Amino acid sequence: MKALVLAGGKGTRLRPLTHTSAKQLVPVANKPVLYYGLEAIRDAGIISVGIIIGDTGAEVRAAVGDGSRFGLHVTYIPQEAPLGLAHCVLIARDFLADEPFVMYLGDNFLIGGIADLVDAFRMAHYDAQILLTKVTEPQFYGVAELGPEGKILRLEEKPECPRSDLAIVGVYTFSPAIHQAVRAITPSARGELEITDAIKWLIDNGFSVHSHFVTGYWKDTGRLEDMLECNRIVLEMIAPGVRGMVDTRSEVTGNVIIEAGASVERSVIRGPAVIGAGTKVSSSYVGPYTSIAENCLLQDAEVEYAIVLKGSTIKGVSRLTYSLIGRNVEVTRAEGVPNTHQLMLGDHSKVQVRA
Ligand code: DAU
Repeated sequence: MKALVLAGGKGTRLRPLTHTSAKQLVPVANKPVLYYGLEAIRDAGIISVGIIIGDTGAEVRAAVGDGSRFGLHVTYIPQEAPLGLAHCVLIARDFLADEPFVMYLGDNFLIGGIADLVDAFRMAHYDAQILLTKVTEPQFYGVAELGPEGKILRLEEKPECPRSDLAIVGVYTFSPAIHQAVRAITPSARGELEITDAIKWLIDNGFSVHSHFVTGYWKDTGRLEDMLECNRIVLEMIAPGVRGMVDTRSEVTGNVIIEAGASVERSVIRGPAVIGAGTKVSSSYVGPYTSIAENCLLQDAEVEYAIVLKGSTIKGVSRLTYSLIGRNVEVTRAEGVPNTHQLMLGDHSKVQVRA
């Protein structure tokens, strides 16, 4: 069995971060979302993984390499444009050959792994298996309508008026029958070859398609609030470990990881939180559910419920919360008069200031 991981696409909802970098590499508890998926695939006993890459392909290649770090063998499959999830299957035909495979959307975050799903698929010989979960806003997902016995009656991609609250999760298993389906469908109204339409085609043409319910936590990490929630969930499960330097005037409480090479001086860290290698926290407060990546500087700062990417500086600023801060960003206090905010923001940035 192989795996096909989708790490192309555009990531419009996480701009400006995703103007320059891959949305699948935004970190949760200081680890890129994509890595959680690759680890789940490995833990399900799959070694051969094809990764679909787009404009941000170089960054994905640099982060994942040949996959050996994860115990995987990775083949990259460039996609000329984000033409849809089924298009990804189409261009991966040679890599997939005639093996069954699991398709994993690189921005999906699933706790609990996929080993059960993969085992069930191996035993039952279905042509496709989809995962479902209840959501509050089904109009943003593929939606399934089930009959009384759990039979799939209808599948729709982002319907305006959803007939159920059952979203299709971004992890699917397929037999080679899917290749026939992706060749048979045509692009949707949004111009993409939809995997939902390909699965519908399988059902309509008498192939066996089975649905499972996700029992654990699942999130599509497309938006800020989803990233912050995933970060919170993962931080709640971390095993604390102080490998960096903490001075005697600092207070560290709760589940906190301080990586080797990090330093904390005259500061309060209230977990769950993680402070990356080489980061310096000085005269600052880091509150619960915060991940600070490597080589950051927090000085006279207060940060809570936030994700800060590597190389960023927060200095003389209180109090930042509910925030996602990109790489090499500077957030500092404006001195003197007049009492103003001075901003230099990338396209599509979002800032909320208390006047
Ligand atoms: O997250 C679950 C949802 O994922 C499902 O409920 C939907 O049925 C399914 O269509 C999909 O919807 P999204 O609109 O969220 O998909 P998105 O465009 O975000 O793409 C998912 C991943 O696949 C993401 O990592 C980018 C990658 N991708 C996407 C497209 C369209 C590619 O690599 N190539 C592509 O052409």
